[in-house]
Amino acid sequence: MQFDLIVIGSGIAGLCTALAAAPRRVAVLTRQELAADGASRWAQGGIAAALGAGDSAAAHARDTMVAGNHLNDAAAVQALTAAAAAAVRWLAAQGVGFDSDEHGFRLGREAAHSQSRIVHAHGDATGAVVMRALGAVARAAGHIQIFEQHRATRLLSRDGRVYGVAAQGPQGPAAFTAQATVLASGGIGALYRYTTNPDTADASGLALALQAGAAVSDMEFVQFHPTALRTRDGRSGQLPLLTEALRGAGAVLVNSAGRRFLCAVAREAELAPRDVVARAVWQELERGESVYLDATRAVGEDFPQRFPTVFAACAAEGIDPRRQPIPVVPAQHYHMGGVRVDAGAATSLPGLYAVGEAACSGVHGANRLASNSLLEGLVFGRALGARLAQLPRTVLPAAAAIPDAGGEVGSGIAGAVRDLLWRHAGLVRDAAGLAAAQRELQALAQSAANQAERDRLCVAAEIVAAATRRGASIGAHYRCDAVQVRAG
Ligand code: SIN
Repeated sequence: MQFDLIVIGSGIAGLCTALAAAPRRVAVLTRQELAADGASRWAQGGIAAALGAGDSAAAHARDTMVAGNHLNDAAAVQALTAAAAAAVRWLAAQGVGFDSDEHGFRLGREAAHSQSRIVHAHGDATGAVVMRALGAVARAAGHIQIFEQHRATRLLSRDGRVYGVAAQGPQGPAAFTAQATVLASGGIGALYRYTTNPDTADASGLALALQAGAAVSDMEFVQFHPTALRTRDGRSGQLPLLTEALRGAGAVLVNSAGRRFLCAVAREAELAPRDVVARAVWQELERGESVYLDATRAVGEDFPQRFPTVFAACAAEGIDPRRQPIPVVPAQHYHMGGVRVDAGAATSLPGLYAVGEAACSGVHGANRLASNSLLEGLVFGRALGARLAQLPRTVLPAAAAIPDAGGEVGSGIAGAVRDLLWRHAGLVRDAAGLAAAQRELQALAQSAANQAERDRLCVAAEIVAAATRRGASIGAHYRCDAVQVRAG
């Protein structure tokens, strides 16, 4: 099937790219049903934008750089923050009902923001509300064709140029060709024991890019959210998120003695940068303590109205957060690294682009500022789609035989990768642990049964190798055997 543009992934980055590419013909490939796929719809915390009186894009950019330990690409940060307010208004025009007050958008506060600048929709259901609206607009758009239940299995390339993708669909294998192929396939949460991401955030886009020879960068920068709900059954995989907005509203982290341990760790206590808070929670747990998020005073009776998604998740665990502290564990949340892209979202391979969490534009540096991720997909996706709409049409090679689907990752390899990355390439790392992880990955590679398993191991090995190379601690990459660097 021939299109002008192929978008792999249907989260906010993918759909914004596809929508902005009109009138070019776009194929959107999504692993599940459109409404069910991607991590965007799970986002609770909202979208950061300098919309308030006294706020500015420059202040938002400054906060983004500070959170990223100044390893950010300053031009990308400038582009992101300057476009944020208009992008939020565009979303509102697409039918997203943001929460409002007498001043317009109701602006919330989250960790490491110097201002209240976070817009939410239906309290903590921002991602779900945004994706419902974008999904409806994309379905109605005449230039977009959505292929549900389609898993991209291999990039098609000739003479170093990507001209499409092979996919496995409900009717079997299929080849899609286009002038431009966009990876908007999300993150890597499924490679960690605990994550806030859905199962499909399994680094599949990164694996496709690596297989085709694209450059990746910042792979060691993996963000952990301090507060996922620790479930009664102690299960691993995707855990319910307890949004940072709860701490923004005054909820505090306490140990089993009821002591607020963050006051001794950072001046900003619970509103310190996410890596600092997540590590403090981890260290408390490592000491054998339990950790709880206590919103009983700060939110109390308003909990169901203000945080309906979290309230429902707590209720499913038999917890009433109006009256009880909520047990927490840190969980993998976001990957700052990814397929390296330039200011135009182009990867190192002609014909291949990347956007959203799958990409590494450098915008987040060593640690992403809260509520900059939906924003990134929104702003950079729209910009990319608009640019690709201008691409001249070229003659494409005909797809040769469709490559083999690559198999599935078995539970043995998947579980082993989750455990070893959690232990050795998680919140706290050291040389000995990383070396052990490398050895374990090499041993696992001997037993890999198919391409999908080799791909999974290859992405894990890239993370471990990057974490090994960066000997100093910075941002989300914390080496307990090294000094901490605070750049800028
Ligand atoms: C949250 O709601 O805590 C997550 C916000 C984010 O990751 O940006």
